[in-house]
Amino acid sequence: MNTLQEEIGRRRTFAIISHPDAGKTTLTEKFLLYGGAIQSAGTVKGKASDHHAVSDWMELEKQRGISVTSSVLQFEYEGYHINILDTPGHQDFSEDTYRTLMAADSAVMVIDGAKGIEPQTRKLFKVCAMRGIPIFTFINKMDRDSRDPFDLVDELEKEFGIGTYPVNWPIGSGVSFKGVYDRERKSVLIFDEFHAGRKKLQGIECDIANREKLKELIGDLASKELCEQVELLDAASYELNMEKVWAGKLSPVFFGSALNNFGVESFLEYFLKMTSSPLAHDTSTGVVDPFDERFSAFVFKIQANMNKAHRDRIAFLRICSGKYERSKEYLHLQTGKIARLSQPQQMMAQEREIIECAYAGDIIGVFDPGVFSIGDTVCDAGMQVRFMDIPTFSPEHFAYVEQIDAMKRKQFMKGMNQIAQEGAIRIFIMPGAGYERLVVGVVGQLQYDVLQFRMESEYGVKYRKTELPHTVIYWVKSSPGTISELRLADGTLWVQDLRGNDLLIFQSDWAVRWAKEKNPGLILEEYPKMNEQND
Ligand code: G4P
Repeated sequence: MNTLQEEIGRRRTFAIISHPDAGKTTLTEKFLLYGGAIQSAGTVKGKASDHHAVSDWMELEKQRGISVTSSVLQFEYEGYHINILDTPGHQDFSEDTYRTLMAADSAVMVIDGAKGIEPQTRKLFKVCAMRGIPIFTFINKMDRDSRDPFDLVDELEKEFGIGTYPVNWPIGSGVSFKGVYDRERKSVLIFDEFHAGRKKLQGIECDIANREKLKELIGDLASKELCEQVELLDAASYELNMEKVWAGKLSPVFFGSALNNFGVESFLEYFLKMTSSPLAHDTSTGVVDPFDERFSAFVFKIQANMNKAHRDRIAFLRICSGKYERSKEYLHLQTGKIARLSQPQQMMAQEREIIECAYAGDIIGVFDPGVFSIGDTVCDAGMQVRFMDIPTFSPEHFAYVEQIDAMKRKQFMKGMNQIAQEGAIRIFIMPGAGYERLVVGVVGQLQYDVLQFRMESEYGVKYRKTELPHTVIYWVKSSPGTISELRLADGTLWVQDLRGNDLLIFQSDWAVRWAKEKNPGLILEEYPKMNEQND
């Protein structure tokens, strides 16, 4: 039996972030294969119509064959207990994606070697950087023609303002991809396409000092080039400073090919050693040590209707300290109630199962009868901590939403309000226009589909939606005159939140600058910030 300290110490909870198509799903699958959690590749996420989807909780997910919710997968590997938080990309991108990062202790950033940093990578990186969590970079698809590796690490350093430490280094790419050089072991692992899909890689290793053998394996030219590049790397790159890695200031970089299962195992091994066990979390009364024996957790996500037959809501909790036990009662700080958490469950690769206990670092889902909100604290009754608020993120897509059936006005507003309270959407009113036509703001467009689905199935309301070309929203903190008197670029939209605060929605950053220039005294404030103060 492990002690509490040992159980917590072996936990690794991380998110995988990437731009769509960089290879996040493929890499996750390979991790699960190593952990024995799945038996064959192609089972993690049903794309379009293929494969079985692991997280097809919502009917909508099944219909579209995508994962709407950020799912949590866990598995055991070489003594570690690993929780992977999957952050959806592209169309299924939402505020949930950002919030999921609040529950991670580190992030694996997957980058396509031919493309480098892409927009979604940029957005997700920002949130990780804001939290100061360690970020590990996996540069994928080296079996395809890729950009120069020096260029790629340079781009990471310049764009993200961090240092990089390549742990391995690629030998060519595309048809001339020969393998990777492991800087720690000072040896070369030779790429062999036949490794594709194999669980364990029995690659050929070669000490770089053995020039003759190296030449034999990768050729004269490639071995010469490699030796030069290694010299350059050793002279020019950052030292591996683990303090900096843990502070998110230095990203260890790995090259490989997830599809071919090349470099994945060595990545996983290095990563697990280098990443941290559960991190301490800030609370109103100081920092909570994960190894504290008392249980504490916060709600980072609420998912409604995971099982339509039961109309259930699941609150996802990130355990921050101690041990959770099913038989014990805990305090829900925000309501002051002490009770047992109902139906505690975890995702084991393909299914949800009821659990008896869980430890700091783990994510558990509990049945929510409608009492939990994002950011709530659940803890041992004697503990009296309150976790810091989870930031809200600014919507990037906007649409008019008009009710069709005037008789269902009440249900329309009730549904919109409740879903907005869960944090899935933001709603705004047009001053003077009443509540028949609202402006809805979302972080990711898929939220529109979720909204429509839920409004119809839960509240029995249909509505008309007109998407708007707007992309940025700001609070009006102070205005030189009334809002209607402001000089604004064509198309700028004036809205209010339900508390009556004024906001402006712009079509471009240019329109924001124009408004500031033409209206001296106009002070605009970033949306989420003031929102937090108001809450
Ligand atoms: P994502 O979750 O980040 O969106 O990416 P995903 O893993 O689904 O990978 C996107 C595409 O890139 C897939 O091809 C996948 O097979 C391919 N891919 C992933 N890793 C590698 C790699 O190391 N090398 C090469 N050459 N390709 C890679 P697809 O054709 O879009 O989908 P599929 O039909 O193969 O599933």
